Amino acid sequence: MIRYITAGESHGPGLTGIVEGVPAGLAIHEDDIAEHLARRQKGYGRGGRMAWEKDRAIIGSGVRFGKTMAGPISLYLENRAFEKDKANWPVVMNKESEAEGIEKITLPRPGHADLVGAQKFRFDDIRPVIERSSARETGMRVACCSIARQFLKHFGIEIGGHVIRIGAAGYDSWEAARAQTDSMFPDGAESIYKKADESEVRCLDATLSDAMVEEIKKYRKAGSSLGGVYEIIVTGVPVGLGSYTHWDQKLDGKIAQAILGTQAMKGVEIGLGFEAGAKPGHEVHDEITHDGNAFTRGSNRAGGIEGGMSTGMPIIIRGAMKPIPTMLNPLGTVDMHSLEAQETRYERSDVCALPRAVVVAESVIAPVIANAFLKKFGGDSISEIEERYQEYKQG
Ligand SMILES: Cc1cc2nc3c(=O)[nH]c(=O)nc-3n(C[C@H](O)[C@H](O)[C@H](O)COP(=O)(O)O)c2cc1C
Repeated sequence: MIRYITAGESHGPGLTGIVEGVPAGLAIHEDDIAEHLARRQKGYGRGGRMAWEKDRAIIGSGVRFGKTMAGPISLYLENRAFEKDKANWPVVMNKESEAEGIEKITLPRPGHADLVGAQKFRFDDIRPVIERSSARETGMRVACCSIARQFLKHFGIEIGGHVIRIGAAGYDSWEAARAQTDSMFPDGAESIYKKADESEVRCLDATLSDAMVEEIKKYRKAGSSLGGVYEIIVTGVPVGLGSYTHWDQKLDGKIAQAILGTQAMKGVEIGLGFEAGAKPGHEVHDEITHDGNAFTRGSNRAGGIEGGMSTGMPIIIRGAMKPIPTMLNPLGTVDMHSLEAQETRYERSDVCALPRAVVVAESVIAPVIANAFLKKFGGDSISEIEERYQEYKQG
């Protein structure tokens, strides 16, 4: 099974990642990782850091002559913010010296991990909470998951995401989103992200893209922030990944964990999702047919998963991201030391991170699908897995 762990702080020297369980013989290049890291940094509504910090993860181990060796793969991603402001960050984040003379952060932001994190770990300074809960960590997450994406791609499984709502601007129905994406499924889900990437808000519909940009402008002017909803599509998934036999084997459950395990994600749907709860059965379930060759379904409102198992149709996942907690206009808070009522202080921040968060969501899905695939067709090397997969497909 592929597992990954990230380490590092937002303003430390860099982020480290370890990915283990990748079979031998998978072609991996730093450029494959760099592609998604660059995508994570692009998008309308981003803050200052993103504009100049160009991420590139360095592979430190586990790869030889461009192929995995089955051992753990280590990655390192430098924090250029740290480099750029050498006078400040090494002092604030010093590993050796005392905290004396360093200004403590004592105003927790509503909606962030600040207050509860400080209470939980008994910190008298919010800095350690900010440093690790910040979305900077998602850079390494994207890097680690790019390896799982490469694995899936080798077997024809592609992942692509697009934005379906920012604030008040969005598709008004499930069908409207389907009209945008479904004709692209035969080309693979990467065609979806490639087209979506042409929009600065990663929306496939040009008119809606403009409306989304206007929404962001409106709330930037108002000193507030915005979240939204995105869709992640996975194509090329064979029938039968995941299982109904145990609660923790259900593919939809694992997907939900990966999405909700990501900063600021507050909702997840598979297929029709919440809309399914408002419709009668005959408007929800996909009728089964057989085309002489294979079982098919005329519609895919189940979003490619039934009974916790992939149906062979594209997997359609929706995720909801809440608005960014750091805002220009302050919210009420309480100073952790004096216990006086105060207003939050503004720090450099995005207005809407959703267009970038889509890349993170695409990424975190990859190890989930890769592991379900490995469970069914697993082996120690890519060629061994390939043999098993071909056998399954043929028969
Ligand atoms: C790609 C991405 C970028 C983010 N950028 C910011 C940001 O600039 N400022 C901020 O306050 N929160 C930002 N967030 C959200 C916080 O990381 C998140 O709200 C915080 O960690 C609290 O966790 P929770 O929202 O899951 O409860 C971002 C999240 C993502 C996924």
